[in-house]
Amino acid sequence: PYPYFVELREKAPLFWLKSLEAHVVSRYEDVTYVLKNPALFSSVDIRVKGQLAKDRSPLDGSVANLVNSDPPVHTRLRGLVSRAFIPKRISEMEPRVLELSKGFVAEMTAHEEFDFMDGLASPLPVTVISEMLGIEVSRRRDFKRWSDSLIHSGAQTLRDGKPSEEVVRNAHEMRDYMAEIAEKRRREPTGDLISLLVQGGEGAEPLTPQEVNSFAIILLIAGNETTTNLLGNSLLALIRNPEQYDWLRRNPTREACARVSEETLRYDSPVMGLLRRTTQDVELSGGKVPAGSSVMALLASANHDPRKFSNPERFDPERETNGLMSFGHGIHFCLGAPLTRLEAPVALKELMERAPRLGLASRQPERIDYGGSFFLRGPRSLWLR
Ligand code: HEM
Repeated sequence: PYPYFVELREKAPLFWLKSLEAHVVSRYEDVTYVLKNPALFSSVDIRVKGQLAKDRSPLDGSVANLVNSDPPVHTRLRGLVSRAFIPKRISEMEPRVLELSKGFVAEMTAHEEFDFMDGLASPLPVTVISEMLGIEVSRRRDFKRWSDSLIHSGAQTLRDGKPSEEVVRNAHEMRDYMAEIAEKRRREPTGDLISLLVQGGEGAEPLTPQEVNSFAIILLIAGNETTTNLLGNSLLALIRNPEQYDWLRRNPTREACARVSEETLRYDSPVMGLLRRTTQDVELSGGKVPAGSSVMALLASANHDPRKFSNPERFDPERETNGLMSFGHGIHFCLGAPLTRLEAPVALKELMERAPRLGLASRQPERIDYGGSFFLRGPRSLWLR
């Protein structure tokens, strides 16, 4: 699906992209090198189109979070929150993820035509995260509103350069609520994610309320739109590749659904690229990049590099996808990968059981407009019948 990336990889593996003010690397080997070396390619003070990313964000940019930090700050934060994402904790969520998927799929497929994004791909991840965090039932609607607002702020800030007043207002409401709930859970822990974070223990210090809020927002941004886009991209890939859709229909097991989800991650990566900042002059892909430059590692292109994946333009759920770059690489490797690897196959399997023969409705799918940028990719709406 990426004809330009073929050209980049072959003709300009280190490419100065003026509109982003960044050096772009597109080969598998170079993308890995950038992400494996945080001392040379830092996550602190990233610039988007020359402007500090933290100035464009509705978050308080002065609070360190997982995504915008390097070691040793990153190491400390990651140690604190990774306890919440251990495989046992994630697998315990399976019955609830299944129950939610069943509900959304049943409701959605009761209509002849439906928007898959609205019916399943968006509500499932946000519900899972709000339950995981322990957002009170009475505030779930607010949480969904804050979440939608934050999620759309990504596309909006890329387009307009800054978040709207409404996005900032929602971010502040969420911050106040998270501070309130962090304090409640500190006094009376309930076993939810926030309790775990504010309690510390096992040698770990507790997170401050500000850090809890910042982490909750990261989960919303990092965990929702990405999973939503993955589900949307999976359905699109199946519908556009009838042979593979047939293969899944003949054998709609959890294992086969997981293969579809992994191959979609590779084939149509929800996160297309990651930015870093060089801490010194570096040699990269045979060229020179000065200190303080923005470097974009094109995950989506690495996933299509024939040096790593043979016949990369073919959507093939039966292929080996080891080493796919869609969750990043190295110290920032996606913390939510095990959750996604639970959620996407469970949802897909439920859909295959209820509605194994879906096709596009008369309305054509629309991609989200991320301001012409290629950070993220997914359908805005996907009407099926
Ligand atoms: C980090 C992709 C789902 C939480 C990342 C990174 C990528 C990524 C590429 C690396 C960022 C970087 O190196 O700067 C995805 C994709 C997903 C997904 C494609 C689904 C299809 C989730 C979910 C959660 C989550 C469900 C949580 C519930 C995080 C967190 C980080 C992260 C906390 C930061 C880790 C760190 O910096 O140490 N994700 N993600 N992600 N992701 Fe995910």
